[in-house]
Amino acid sequence: MKDKIVLITGATGGIGKQTALTLAKMGAQVIVTGRSASSGQEAVAEIKQLSGNSKVDLLLADVSKQAEIKDLAGQVKEKYARLDVLINNAGLAASKRQLTEDGVEANFAVNVLAPFLLTHLLVDSLKSSQSARVITLMGGEVPSILEMDNLQAERRFDGLNSYSQAKLAMLVVMYEFAQRLQGSTITVNVCYPGQASTTMTRSVTPEMLPQAMRWIFPVFKWMTRPDNGKSAAKASHSSVYLASAAEVEGVTGKYFNSNCQEAAMPKVVFDVETRQHLWRQVHQLTSLSNGQTTA
Ligand SMILES: NC(=O)c1ccc[n+]([C@@H]2O[C@H](COP(=O)([O-])OP(=O)(O)OC[C@H]3O[C@@H](n4cnc5c(N)ncnc54)[C@H](OP(=O)(O)O)[C@@H]3O)[C@@H](O)[C@H]2O)c1
Repeated sequence: MKDKIVLITGATGGIGKQTALTLAKMGAQVIVTGRSASSGQEAVAEIKQLSGNSKVDLLLADVSKQAEIKDLAGQVKEKYARLDVLINNAGLAASKRQLTEDGVEANFAVNVLAPFLLTHLLVDSLKSSQSARVITLMGGEVPSILEMDNLQAERRFDGLNSYSQAKLAMLVVMYEFAQRLQGSTITVNVCYPGQASTTMTRSVTPEMLPQAMRWIFPVFKWMTRPDNGKSAAKASHSSVYLASAAEVEGVTGKYFNSNCQEAAMPKVVFDVETRQHLWRQVHQLTSLSNGQTTA
């Protein structure tokens, strides 16, 4: 990874931080992003110290806010000649339906619109790389059905199911992105990290689980007890693999599991009508004109 420039969203903690640390150890120049300056500076200092790599930078952006995503992309274009790897790692599992400052349901904003918009805005930087990789992180459950009439939980908010629906919508959007970038030097893939003890999983409440599953909450709590980043380090394997492995060079439009193996995607991903519909939606919600993102 020497001489590669890598941007990871939400890399000041959790799985993203462990991904940043491993890639820094491999010699990459790593741009770490997060919302908080203080935890960001702390994380960057720790990554530099543990990796022995001084090329670790911090850029601040709350990816639930489109203005901050635009600002982040602007800073990347201004400061770096190119981008070799973009890891859309930051995610959200909201405990209730809430709208962002852009008026979008928060799960949909962070898990779908943010990876789409940031990737879109950085396409030129990625094209400046001889071979660029875009990686986005999936959630745990992969539902087989995408509720197209409930994308922003307008009809019903359903805890972790709503998060899983947003992640599935992201998978569809990223697959479409990969198709549109065929023939370019950019590959677009999605990976599942596996379960880890992080701020996200430690914030899950019993009410976020389906009613019939709530009895297992104590087990879930036990599985996500603080472990000093051990499970997050394990969960960073699939992102690190997609960012660095020679055997996935040129591989695009695929989904990888936590063992870094290609895995099947639900049928809905291959439904052209659904993809076109979602593609139009994400353009509208980010005020981009449709068709702007192509190879
Ligand atoms: N943990 C799991 O078991 C698990 C399982 C399946 C999938 N995933 C997926 O893996 C990814 C990483 O998960 P994680 O558990 O490490 O998440 P996490 O605990 O929420 O990650 C914390 C990091 O994300 C940043 N962050 C949170 N919200 C942000 C926002 N709105 N804008 C910018 N940065 C933000 C935090 O920065 P600040 O500290 O500055 O806020 C921090 O750097 C997510 O996409 C998640 O959906 C996780």
